[in-house]
Amino acid sequence: MSGKKINEVFENTDGFINFSAPGRINIIGEHTDYNNGYVLPAAINRNINLAIRKNNLNSLRSYSQEFPGVHIHKYPLKEIYSKDGWVKYLKAVLFTLQKEINFRDFPGLDVYVSGDIPVGAGLSSSAALEVVFLFALNKLFNLQLEPIKMAFLAQEAENDFVGVKCGIMDQFISIMGKENNAIFIDIRTMSYQYIPLNLKDYIFVLIDTSVSHSLANSEYNNRRQECEEGLKVLQNCLDPHLKSLSEVGLKDINHFKDRFSSNVYKRVVYIAEENLRVQQMVNALEKGLFRQVGQLLYSSHNGLKYLYEVSCPELDLIVDYLKTSEGVVGARMMGGGFGGCVLALLTKNNVDKIFTLIKEKYNIVFQKYPQLYPVTITSGIAMKKN
Ligand code: GLA
Repeated sequence: MSGKKINEVFENTDGFINFSAPGRINIIGEHTDYNNGYVLPAAINRNINLAIRKNNLNSLRSYSQEFPGVHIHKYPLKEIYSKDGWVKYLKAVLFTLQKEINFRDFPGLDVYVSGDIPVGAGLSSSAALEVVFLFALNKLFNLQLEPIKMAFLAQEAENDFVGVKCGIMDQFISIMGKENNAIFIDIRTMSYQYIPLNLKDYIFVLIDTSVSHSLANSEYNNRRQECEEGLKVLQNCLDPHLKSLSEVGLKDINHFKDRFSSNVYKRVVYIAEENLRVQQMVNALEKGLFRQVGQLLYSSHNGLKYLYEVSCPELDLIVDYLKTSEGVVGARMMGGGFGGCVLALLTKNNVDKIFTLIKEKYNIVFQKYPQLYPVTITSGIAMKKN
């Protein structure tokens, strides 16, 4: 990273305390969180690190290694402007605390951010930043916020102030992740269960298309809206008390097929199928049925490509190529879509060989190279041993 070190940014480093929160993979259950469905994420060995201290300057001074330049915001903080760049996430968290717990009487802050979660790769660097900042403020001002409460506050910051209507998955996993485990979450009840990942000779890797998912935010909000339309149709036809798409099975959806517009029908079918796949994936992982794990990954990709329509040619090329390669259990696009990463489960011995071949093939078609990130499953910020 090109930015300055902390001691090159601030006059001294007295009193800084450090925190870090991880990014995530999602094994399966994409776009199901905001439909009150099931998800299966895991925290990974890539983090956003944040050093923080109080200053007596009545202002927020912040610096990110990734986006060099000191930002100084005098109190009282004004609304979020586009020139705020990444600092919008800090402001969003502060505004949320102001709104929810009347947190306003805080002294100035110095904040220094670094890390190794690639931005725009769909690994939830923004959720990790919101989460790490909340944890830091919680500690610094003894706010006594519970971990899960902080997940919801971080989501609210993103929904209400950043303007992305994301679900709760990313913030939750960055807090509650556990080493070598995924978490099966039922978003409707927020009950969750750790699922040990005994991957034997296999390893999850991420192949980053290097296509930043910039289109994602507006399309993401569109998908959410289409799901809401789908829910309205089902409330009219089936039951006015329905609260989410995830309460409805394929049989009912198909019964009322002609009541949906064709796009909304595809979205609704995808959600029902993806929820089933999450449950099947938990069973397959628990029993070590890796063939089935692979099939579920591929069929999730197909759903995201043809029904939810959030894939892109770069993601599809990688998945299609992996399908025909030796040593691949399965693969799918991961996260919001329109770029970012493919998640693949590979035989450990074959990773280098497979990646070398993909790289060349990808470069011929797209004149650039993808990146490879081997994945280790780690603990979330609330679950770290220290
Ligand atoms: C983004 C959102 C999540 C989730 C995924 C898609 O990462 O932040 O809440 O909806 O997309 O599964």
